[in-house]
Amino acid sequence: MVNNEILLDIKDLHVSYGAIEAIKGISLTVRRGEVVTILGANGAGKTTTLQTISGLLKAKSGSIVFDKNDITKCEAHDIVSLGMSHSPEGRRVFGILTVEENLMMGAYTLKDHDKETLEWIYDILPRLKERRKQLAGTLSGGEQQMLAIGRAIMSKPKLLILDEPSLGLAPILIKGIFKAVKEIAQTGVTVLLVEQNAKAALKLADRAYVLEVGKITHEGTADELLNSKTIQEAYLGKKH
Ligand SMILES: Nc1ncnc2c1ncn2[C@@H]1O[C@H](COP(=O)(O)OP(=O)(O)OP(=O)(O)O)[C@@H](O)[C@H]1O
Ligand SMILES: [Mg+2]
Repeated sequence: MVNNEILLDIKDLHVSYGAIEAIKGISLTVRRGEVVTILGANGAGKTTTLQTISGLLKAKSGSIVFDKNDITKCEAHDIVSLGMSHSPEGRRVFGILTVEENLMMGAYTLKDHDKETLEWIYDILPRLKERRKQLAGTLSGGEQQMLAIGRAIMSKPKLLILDEPSLGLAPILIKGIFKAVKEIAQTGVTVLLVEQNAKAALKLADRAYVLEVGKITHEGTADELLNSKTIQEAYLGKKH
């Protein structure tokens, strides 16, 4: 369901923490309906990039256009209301609330059709339905991550941003997370995904960017990167 319309357009973005320049002029685009992944080693600037897109950090220069709105200087809550949802690094669920209460917190406004959205999420993530009355703090790590993703899609976003959804999970749970992300994408949600798990991310994505110390060093279709010797050696653990 990819079309050519650009949903997210980043041009020459620079982001600094004080005197340290973490993002040094990156440009990237995400088209409506695409799954795009950003790969990169620890400290490359992936989280910084995502936080700047969702308004949690401010760019030093460059521009970010989302769904035809220039959001470069917008506040995070205004960006949410334009249809962007960010599931941050680390599973941040409210431990003393139930699964369902956590999901309802993700609804941007509480409306009648939230019940329908809840059912949609329970279809994609059936484990959450089974455990809807359980306190989120007692879920396993993988279940908490599913809950974090479920909460992020409660607002029915146009763009879902995921920062390392598989971090710290066992391989069997990682499979479940990737399957859920794929199903979400198939319902028409555009996805921007950051992952250490490069191979799984490339299998899921349409296109990918590689970030190295604040700069984009490679970009292409996921197949191009999966077949690139440089990428295989640096990120996919293959030796030639
Ligand atoms: N609050 C901060 N203050 C100063 N420097 C920071 C801050 N947050 C991040 N950095 C630095 O910016 C660079 C990019 O960090 P970032 O968290 O974006 O990397 P990342 O690619 O997400 O890494 P990881 O894979 O470990 O999550 C790093 O060198 C980091 O030390
Ligand atoms: Mg990070």
